[in-house]
Amino acid sequence: MHITKAVIPAAGLGTRVLPATKSMPKEMYPIVDKPTIQFIVEEAVAAGITDILIITNRGKGLMEDHFDASPELESLLEKSGKLEFLETVRNISNLANISFIRQKEMKGLGHAVLKAKSFVGNEPFAVLYGDGVITGKVPAIKQLIDHYGEYGEGVVGVKKVDAKDIHKYGSLKVEHMHDNVFACTDMKEKPQTPEEVLSLYSILDRCVLPAEIFGILENTKPGIGGEIQLTDAMREIAITKGMTAVEFEGKRYDMGNKFGILQAQIEIGLEHPETKDLLKDYIKNIAKTL
Ligand code: UTP
Repeated sequence: MHITKAVIPAAGLGTRVLPATKSMPKEMYPIVDKPTIQFIVEEAVAAGITDILIITNRGKGLMEDHFDASPELESLLEKSGKLEFLETVRNISNLANISFIRQKEMKGLGHAVLKAKSFVGNEPFAVLYGDGVITGKVPAIKQLIDHYGEYGEGVVGVKKVDAKDIHKYGSLKVEHMHDNVFACTDMKEKPQTPEEVLSLYSILDRCVLPAEIFGILENTKPGIGGEIQLTDAMREIAITKGMTAVEFEGKRYDMGNKFGILQAQIEIGLEHPETKDLLKDYIKNIAKTL
C-alpha cells in the first residue's frame, strides 16, 4: 500500500509533565539536540510520507516556527561560515509538506484526528502520536504500512505492556497469524476491571487508518475520561471488518511521561556522536555512587 499522508496529533495538554508544559509544548522538548516532533516527522518521511498535518492548539505555535524557514538565522549562519548548521536548519523546513490545524477544545485523541478529515480525503493515512518517539532500523510506521489490508481495514502498532499498566492503555483482542503480525477483532480503551482486559497487547503511538474512520468518529460519543477516544472508533472497524496488529520493532519513548523523557535523553545520548563517549563515562562514574 502506498501511503503519502500522515496526521500527527500534538494538541494534548501534557499535564503529566507539568510544570514544563505550562508554556512549552512537550513535542518541542529536545532529545539531546532535536525536538521530539522532528524525530516523528523524520520517521514519517523515512517511510515515504510526503504530506503531514500536525494538530496543534493555541499554545503550540513554536512547532509551526520550527518547520518554517528562518531567513535571519540562515543568513547569519551563512555569513559566519557555519555551513554545517546552515544545512541542518534548511533541511528542517524542506522535510515534507507540513501544515497545521488547531484543535480548539481538547476533547481527546479521536476529536483531534477528526480535524484531519478534509486534509486526508478518501485515502488511508498514517497516524503518529506527537509525544511518542520510536527509534529503530525500519521506521515503525513503515512496518505498519507494509501490512495494510492484511487482516481487514487498518493497522495498529502494538507492544505487550505490563499487567499492572494495562489500565492506562488500550487492550486488544488479537490472534497471532505469523511473525509479528496479528489479527485484531476487538479493543477496549483503558480497561478498568480484569474482565475488560482482552490481552496485554496495547496500541502504542502508531496506526494506519482507512478514511471511513472519520464517519465513525463523527458519531463517537465521549468515552473514558469524557474524551472522544480514537480506540472507540477503531473498535467499530475491528469488530466489523477486522484490523491488523503489528508488534513493531524499535524502542519507544513516551515523551509525555517524566521517566520516558529521561530514558530518551540517556539512550539517544548514548548513540549521538558528540555525546556518546562523555555520557558513557559520566554514567559509569555516577553508577559507582548509587
Ligand atoms: P495523551 O493522552 O498521551 O496526551 O494523548 P495528553 O492529553 O497531552 O496527556 P496528559 O494526560 O495531559 O499528560 C496522546 C496523543 O494525542 C494528542 C496528544 O498531543 C498526544 O500526542 N491529543 C490528545 C490531542 O492532540 N488532542 C487531545 O485532545 C488529546
